[in-house]
Amino acid sequence: MENKKLFDYNIFLIGFMGCGKSTIAGYLHDTFSMDVVEMDDIIAKREGMSISDIFETHGEQYFRDLETNLLVEMQNKSNVVISCGGGTPMRENNVLEMKKNGRVVLLTAQPETVLQRVKDNHDRPLLENNKNVSFIADLMAKRSEKYEAAADIIIQTDGKNEQEICEEMIQRLRAMDESRQKTGGCSYKQPPYILQAFMKDIQYLFKLIYWNLSWGRSFCGRSKCEGRAKGFTGKTADDTCSGH
Ligand code: S3P
Repeated sequence: MENKKLFDYNIFLIGFMGCGKSTIAGYLHDTFSMDVVEMDDIIAKREGMSISDIFETHGEQYFRDLETNLLVEMQNKSNVVISCGGGTPMRENNVLEMKKNGRVVLLTAQPETVLQRVKDNHDRPLLENNKNVSFIADLMAKRSEKYEAAADIIIQTDGKNEQEICEEMIQRLRAMDESRQKTGGCSYKQPPYILQAFMKDIQYLFKLIYWNLSWGRSFCGRSKCEGRAKGFTGKTADDTCSGH
């Protein structure tokens, strides 16, 4: 089909294992001649061993650091589709790297669909010996908050073919670009990722203050004591209660 520059930024495809990132990246390459970076493939090639062997030989953290380094390298590219490993968006720094020069597209699928897609593959160390719907559903649930926070757009892939998924993606990215242009570069339905991360920290701080203030009260049922043993003062309400 067309051979033209679709976007002037990179597209980061994220999502759980088996959500179709590599398939969609391949389709974008075949259809629009977009360059594709398969993060797992590049890492495996550079290390001269499979992803499973990297995990086994050097451990998961080593692999995660390689992912982060590779993302930093992507900064000087544009109009490239980057098919990320399923765990890449778990590090907030990785997501910040993606956002510097790209849009993040989250592909989702039901655990049953994922299982069908991954069941015959043996180069996913986290799923080896765990190929069942309940393990997949659990890990997916643990990751979903971070996936969703990272995503500029989310595309559900169950029951759709590659063309439908790509058309939906391109149409939604273009709509997002147009609306950003109209609003001078800011069309976030949600606050920008960096702000979301900051807001989470602030929320956490308020929670800590709240727990700190309410903690002492729980030790003393006497209503007049309420508030006397606030916080981590080292004293319980009983210590400070003058005995009502
Ligand atoms: C992983 C996903 C894999 C690969 C590694 C870890 C994960 O990539 O990076 O096995 O933590 O979800 P795919 O999502 O391409 O399978």
